[in-house]
Amino acid sequence: MQPVILDNLVGEFREARAVVMLTGAGVSAESGIPTFRDAMEGLWAKYDPSQLATPEAFDRDSETVTRWYDWRREKCATAKPNPAHLALARLEEHLATQERGFTLLTQNVDRLHQAAGNRNVVELHGTLWVWRCTRCGIEREERTVPFQEYPPRCARGGARRPAVVWFGEMLSEQALKQAHDALATCDFFFSVGTSAVVEPAANFIYSVRHRGPKTVEINRDATPISRVVDWSLLGKAGEVLPELVRRAFGI
Ligand code: APR
Repeated sequence: MQPVILDNLVGEFREARAVVMLTGAGVSAESGIPTFRDAMEGLWAKYDPSQLATPEAFDRDSETVTRWYDWRREKCATAKPNPAHLALARLEEHLATQERGFTLLTQNVDRLHQAAGNRNVVELHGTLWVWRCTRCGIEREERTVPFQEYPPRCARGGARRPAVVWFGEMLSEQALKQAHDALATCDFFFSVGTSAVVEPAANFIYSVRHRGPKTVEINRDATPISRVVDWSLLGKAGEVLPELVRRAFGI
């Protein structure tokens, strides 16, 4: 069945000058990557994510936390961008040829947007492909799966942790600034595949809405912002996004 996308949205979107896309775990779900909460399965079912994704958990038991991340890295390593990622890559490329703005703000840590070809990506929650030494702070890309030691160590022996934002931690200032700059100037804001409950991303819609940009949500389920946006499109990101960019831009 074709997703229902109203003509007035397609017409307005065609005229967009600066687009911000906020994405969440729902966009990667069709690539087979379990959402954060769904990732507590199998061996990991007895854990609470808040017991694994905190600096305190890493201090207490860095081996278990690393093994959980390694299990997730393994899933991400074999995952491929799905039609939602590919539609966003086509959209960025198309808008760039017309000197229109496009910024992708993602809460996902899997780098599938970059694998699809998106370039202007702000990783709000970091990425599990980069690990940072807890002693010297040096970050290094860690693509080998699985690790040889838990946790991996830096040359001088310091334990490395994933360069992701854990519960209770602040987002990087640079990522936040890039996000706020894009939000302050966009004329189209999309929230795609995110439950819209985790701050600060959950708040982005309220920070743009008063300025008057058009706002759209694409989600399989209703969320707290479904009634706030101008258009709420219920459906899978991998079906709705390709159809929307095809109708608006013929790509
Ligand atoms: N298409 C569109 N939406 C989908 C799809 C799909 N195929 N599959 C699931 N969804 C929706 C769900 O209905 C839900 O609203 O995606 C949303 C996923 O929500 P969360 O699991 O809460 O993910 P997210 O919003 O990215 O979480 C934000 O919280 O768990 C922490 O740090 C983690 O980055 C994560 C942050």
